[in-house]
Amino acid sequence: MKINSATFIQSEDSYLKGPKDGKAEYAFIGRSNVGKSSLINMIASKKGLAKTSQTPGKTQTINHFLINEEWYLVDLPGYGFAKPGKDYREKWEVMIIDYLTKRENLFCIFVLIDSRHPLQDNDFEFMRFLAHSELPFAILFTKADKNSVTKTKQNVDEYIKLMLEYWEELPPCFLTSSVTREGKEEILNFIEDLNKKFKKK
Ligand code: GTP
Ligand code: MG
Repeated sequence: MKINSATFIQSEDSYLKGPKDGKAEYAFIGRSNVGKSSLINMIASKKGLAKTSQTPGKTQTINHFLINEEWYLVDLPGYGFAKPGKDYREKWEVMIIDYLTKRENLFCIFVLIDSRHPLQDNDFEFMRFLAHSELPFAILFTKADKNSVTKTKQNVDEYIKLMLEYWEELPPCFLTSSVTREGKEEILNFIEDLNKKFKKK
């Protein structure tokens, strides 16, 4: 799929305040700093569309980007970022969990995992929650450029092997890099196929 347009539409703090045109949405979630906003820019072919930062905790709201006037990429805040205070965590949890479980036109969730790191408890807990809630998701391994091709493959293979000790099958998995644009075509093809199946809510 070719990207003809990518436009920031709005930021909001509740799934109820999102766009009401019923178009398909694809949300990016994962630990803080994993590369969600960078990957959105890479897929949309537009630098600076979503705000990125070296400091974890950059994205704090739900952000809608309209692609090809037809579907949305949605950037979400990261988890695992120890911003002090119970109130912040609870507010975050309510906002994100409500969005993930109640937003009717959310068609697939992309869970981002740093390809350099072994399976982390909070990622696994989060994916278990998605599976238990029967929410469709795919895994995007990020920052593939940070290691050699061999090392990245070894890490991802080990990750998948460990997951398969717990689960009989895994969701679709993609290897990505916002720097080399690895994975772009595969993800856009995946979204294109899903768009064909999507019926406006
Ligand atoms: P929060 O909004 O804080 O949750 O972070 P995020 O997941 O949106 O991460 P973001 O895209 O802001 O990127 C975090 C840092 O990682 C930035 O310094 C990016 O430049 C860097 N980064 C992201 N993706 C890649 C990648 O594929 N390769 C490399 N080398 N660096 C990356
Ligand atoms: Mg971000």
